[in-house]
Amino acid sequence: MLTPRRNIAELVRENILLGQHLFSLGIKLLDYSNYTLEEACKKHGLNPEVVINTLESAVQNDKHSIDAEILPISVVVRYLKHKHFEFVKKRLPFVRYLIHNLRDDLSVDYVSDLKMVYPLFEEDFIQHIYEEEDTVFRHILLLNRSVKNMVNISEMYYSFEKFSLSSFVNNHHKHPNEMEGIRQITLNFNSCEAYSQQLQYTLKALKSFYEELEVHANIEDNILLPRAIELEKKQLAFIKKTIRQN
Ligand SMILES: [Fe+2]
Ligand SMILES: [Fe+2]
Repeated sequence: MLTPRRNIAELVRENILLGQHLFSLGIKLLDYSNYTLEEACKKHGLNPEVVINTLESAVQNDKHSIDAEILPISVVVRYLKHKHFEFVKKRLPFVRYLIHNLRDDLSVDYVSDLKMVYPLFEEDFIQHIYEEEDTVFRHILLLNRSVKNMVNISEMYYSFEKFSLSSFVNNHHKHPNEMEGIRQITLNFNSCEAYSQQLQYTLKALKSFYEELEVHANIEDNILLPRAIELEKKQLAFIKKTIRQN
């Protein structure tokens, strides 16, 4: 329950994403974890009630999932793109902030490895997202419009020449989750009370991101791509038949 008098550290222990949402509002977790929500809002000139409403709707949004098996393919793509946007604009900056400020912790020996590996993961991940949107999502949306006769055959044929869905499928997510290396370094995000509060926050944030990426990759690999391949087969057969008839 979010109330103005609650301590930020306590709230974030219950739900690490509150730390991310506060971060998006300019309230940095590591500076304000010992403050109450009301005190932190006052320091930033924010109205606590407005902040609580914003946090509540953000938490609801975090819980939102879709039934990708039955929704139209264009809605599934839009949802995945929205998730990409959230990853890039909100999730990555928060995790980057936590890792950047992480100090050596005597309880673990991987802090410097994590600081070195995380920026590489982030760079690859952002590139993966942009490639996905520029190639596969674009091709799938075109296929979807083509099935409804909203695209001319030559445009679709050109997209087939430029992009192969099956080779994308074979190379997509060599491991289902791009954060696998970070999971291994941090010993499965294992955390305990003996760790510094900062390290505990970081591990929780990484674990929650990892789990969300698993859900995301599952929608892409097991729902969106198989549906797109079916569409592609149908359209290829249609194009071949049309060409033969002409
Ligand atoms: Fe994706
Ligand atoms: Fe992906």
